[in-house]
Amino acid sequence: MAEATETKKSTKNKTAAYHNYIGGEWVKSASGEYFENINPADTSDVVGRFPKSGAEDVVRAVDAAKNAAAKWRRTPAPKRAEILFRLGEILRANKDEFTRQMTREMGKVLKEAGGDVQEAIDCTYYTAGEGRRLHGFTTPAEMPNKFAMCVRQPVGICGLITPFNFPMAIPSWKLIPALVCGNTVVIKSGEDVPLSTVNLIKSCEEAGIPKGVVNLVNGHGADVGVPLVNHQDVRLISFTGSTDTGRIIAEQCARDNKIVSLEMGGKNAIIVMDDADIDNAVEGSLWGAFGTSGQRCTASSRLVVHKKVYKKFTEKLVERVKQLKVGNGLDAKTEVGPVINQAAMEKILGYIEIGQKEDKATLACGGNRLTKGDFAKGYFIEPTVFTDVAPNHRIGQEEIFGPVTSVIPFDTLDEAIEIVNNVKYGLSSAIYTQDVNQSFYAMQELYTGICYVNSATIGAEVHLPFGGTKGTGNGHREAGTQVLDIFTEWKSLYIDYSGKLQRAQIDLVEI
Ligand code: UN1
Repeated sequence: MAEATETKKSTKNKTAAYHNYIGGEWVKSASGEYFENINPADTSDVVGRFPKSGAEDVVRAVDAAKNAAAKWRRTPAPKRAEILFRLGEILRANKDEFTRQMTREMGKVLKEAGGDVQEAIDCTYYTAGEGRRLHGFTTPAEMPNKFAMCVRQPVGICGLITPFNFPMAIPSWKLIPALVCGNTVVIKSGEDVPLSTVNLIKSCEEAGIPKGVVNLVNGHGADVGVPLVNHQDVRLISFTGSTDTGRIIAEQCARDNKIVSLEMGGKNAIIVMDDADIDNAVEGSLWGAFGTSGQRCTASSRLVVHKKVYKKFTEKLVERVKQLKVGNGLDAKTEVGPVINQAAMEKILGYIEIGQKEDKATLACGGNRLTKGDFAKGYFIEPTVFTDVAPNHRIGQEEIFGPVTSVIPFDTLDEAIEIVNNVKYGLSSAIYTQDVNQSFYAMQELYTGICYVNSATIGAEVHLPFGGTKGTGNGHREAGTQVLDIFTEWKSLYIDYSGKLQRAQIDLVEI
């Protein structure tokens, strides 16, 4: 494998150096500089050194994507898909290794990292199947001896900007559909988790994706993301990350008439009705709020609980939260890993402080950074629950992206729905109830892109559309077949075989 070389560090640790992938070659950045990929569970552990890239690297990558575009676009879609099926096989064969490496660079526990790699495998197989579908449609023409149909065409060069929290799944959600549709891509890895993207791209190379079709540039948002978004030959930007950054990207893309698909923040809620199976609701809430240390766009960061079961639910929840085992994700017993970096930790602790100052809100458990023993080496925060949170408290409104959840009491289902909907985001929601009428009413009224009944707000599957309303997105959906609408444009085709001029809307056919 050409991309990793061992280099001596001053600490005498051997640290692998990785490269960008441009035009089918593993290359250093133009500057020759590197940044370090640090294990968030143990900051003395440097996972690797990655090229600190900039505008020049982006230009090279876009050029490579441009040179490869015509041939890839003209490669029959079932052939493109064959390569992607091979990619699925390669990911499957390397699942254990990629899983461990992901836990080491990102911190999520092994089981979840395995799920992340699995989601990339699922996405690859499912989306590769589109190589033999990519359905368009035919429809009658309004003139005699005339044929009308509609086909999908690739959009061109796609810039993919990916986050840290699903280091292989989210890049795959963007990369695989882009490729099956016949686009060429430049992907920017998340700067905290570049190794998982390298693993994905290395697998693309092994699968036989032609040179230049997939290009990887590692580096930071300001250095790589900005020139990618600004590059005039890039036709589409697909971004997952914060709502603030997404808005800036959307504004720039609007100026350049680029297609832009955004997947951004969430403030997801679980409603617990008075007839709910409380133990099941507690387990769902634990998983939804503290899985991935709460670093999911879909995290259950609000638990909206009926007053009749409020006491019982919160007591059980707090008891279970106190038992959660926090630690290094590489330890199989760990249930909650670290958060991604120092800045994230400070932001989350800042929200905990804000929560403690909110009128009436009570810190029921957690609330601290863990610093004893090995914890001191990482970014660990106790799983934290606030109770008696009011819907308009900042901790009840703003995305925290950490192991913190807020319990909010309510009296009626309509009131609960109002609380859930009354935030600026609209990604995921859930309701626990045994009542079919209540569950259908909630499914109808909750204004989110995803809604669960009797399970948490997390756990989306790759063959259903993923995305949200309001501040979460800009109307697009990833995954499912709906993602094809991001990575293709429709072309309407009219074939007149009448042998004469027939003017639509003017030469009306007499009957
Ligand atoms: C995210 O929440 O950031 O639905 C992505 C889930 C995963 C993907 C989550 N399949 O929980």
